[in-house]
Amino acid sequence: MQERELTEESEPTTVVVIGAGPAGLTVANLLRRCGIDCIVLERRSREYVAQRQRAGIVESRAVRMFESWGLADQVLGGPPHDGILEFRVDGESHLVDDSDGSAGPGARLCPQQVLVQKLTTVHLADGGDLRYEVADVSLHDLTGDRPTVRYRSTDGTLHAITCDFIAGCDGDHGVTRTAVPDGVLTAHALDHGIGWLTVLADAPPPAHPLLAISPHGFAAHFPRGPHSSRYYLQCPPDDHPDAWPDHRVWDALRTRLADPALTAGPITDRESFRLRSLVHDPMQYGRLFLVGDAAHIVSPMGGKGMNLALYDADLFARAVRDHIRDHDDTGLRSYSQRCLRRVWNDQEFSHWLTRTVHDAGDDTASGAFLRNLALARLDRLFTSPTVAQAFAELMTGLEPPQHRPVPTGR
Ligand code: APR
Repeated sequence: MQERELTEESEPTTVVVIGAGPAGLTVANLLRRCGIDCIVLERRSREYVAQRQRAGIVESRAVRMFESWGLADQVLGGPPHDGILEFRVDGESHLVDDSDGSAGPGARLCPQQVLVQKLTTVHLADGGDLRYEVADVSLHDLTGDRPTVRYRSTDGTLHAITCDFIAGCDGDHGVTRTAVPDGVLTAHALDHGIGWLTVLADAPPPAHPLLAISPHGFAAHFPRGPHSSRYYLQCPPDDHPDAWPDHRVWDALRTRLADPALTAGPITDRESFRLRSLVHDPMQYGRLFLVGDAAHIVSPMGGKGMNLALYDADLFARAVRDHIRDHDDTGLRSYSQRCLRRVWNDQEFSHWLTRTVHDAGDDTASGAFLRNLALARLDRLFTSPTVAQAFAELMTGLEPPQHRPVPTGR
C-alpha cells in the first residue's frame, strides 16, 4: 500500500481508547455519558470484533454498574441467570445458590459478543467516534501533559491524536503495555499446568451452569443461548484441538458429565488453551491507564475476566469525569491500587475454584492428599450456609452489605 504523509495537524481529543473489546467499548460509552470526548482505535474490523466469542456471564455487580449509568437495558442481552450453579461430583448433583439474595438485579447470561455488539451500536448511535482496522498504533510523551497517539488508517494515511489520557484496552497482546519503559511494571504470572478444550455447539443448554468433577477429568457445560452450549474439557496442557474429533468430545462429555443421554449437536468452534493467570502492577504509567486484559489475565474458572475489565472501565471513566468536572484527581491517583485490590481478590477466588474442581477429580496430577483437601472444600460449600454465602458473595462481585466490626482484644 502507498504510504501517505502524516496529516498536517494533530487532532485533539480528551481520551484515546485503544481496543474495542468489552473494556474499550465500556470506557467509551461511559465517557460519552459524561459528555467527554474520546476516539476509539481498533486494529480489527467491526465484523471481526462483533463475532469474537469468549465470556458468557455478566456478574451482578457489573449489571448494577451498567444500571447506575442508565445503560443496562441498552447494552445487556440474554436472560437473567437464575442464581443456581450445579456441581456434579462423581455423578451426584449439588445445587449451589450463587446469588447473594440482595435487592437489585442479579447476573445476566450475556455472551461477550452480545455485549460488544450492543455497546458498539449504542456508542455509534450516541455519536461516538470508533475507528476500525487501524495499524501501527504508537504512544508518545506518556509522562507529558498531552500525550500523542499515532496510527495508520486503511488508506495508508498516518494520523496523530493528542489527548489528556490514553486508555490501554487492547488486551494481553496489545501495544499499549509495551510503550511503558522496562522496569516500571512488574508481571506476576502463574501457569496452572492445566489445559482446556473449549467447544461451542448447537446443542441444548443445561438447566443450570454445570461443573462436573470425576476421575475422568473436569468438564463443564454452560448455556450460550436458547439452542447453543459451550463445553469445557480438561486436557493435557498442550493438546491440539485436532486430537479431539467430534466422537471423542461427545464420549468424554457423556462420561464426565455422568449423562449417557447428553444430546449432541453440530460443533461450531473448537479451541484449546492453557489455564494461566497474570497481573501487571501498577496499571498506570504517566497518562496511560491499562484497563482489562491489557493489565491482567484471570483463569476462566469463576467467569471473572470480562467482569474485571468492566470494573476497571467504570473506575477509569469515573476518575476522568471527576478530573474534568470537579478538578478532583483522587480517582486517577488511586486507580491502579483500587483495581489491583479487586484483581487479586478475583485471582484468589478463581485460583481456589480452579484448584478445587481439578484436584477433586484427578489425583494423578495432584496426588490423593490434595484430592481429599479439594473434596473437603466442596463438602464445606455444599453443607455450610456460611461458606455458601461467601461463595455467592464472590460470584456476584458485590461488596459485602456491611463490614462486621472486628472484635477488639482485652
Ligand atoms: N491497536 C488497536 N487495537 C488493538 C491492538 C492494537 N495494537 N491490539 C489489540 N487490539 C484490540 C483487539 O483487536 C481487541 O478488539 O483490543 C481489543 C482487546 O479486547 P479483549 O482482548 O477482548 O480485551 P478486553 O476488552 O480487556 O476484554 C476483557 O475478559 O473474558 C475475558 O479475555 C476475555 O476478552 C475478554 C476480556
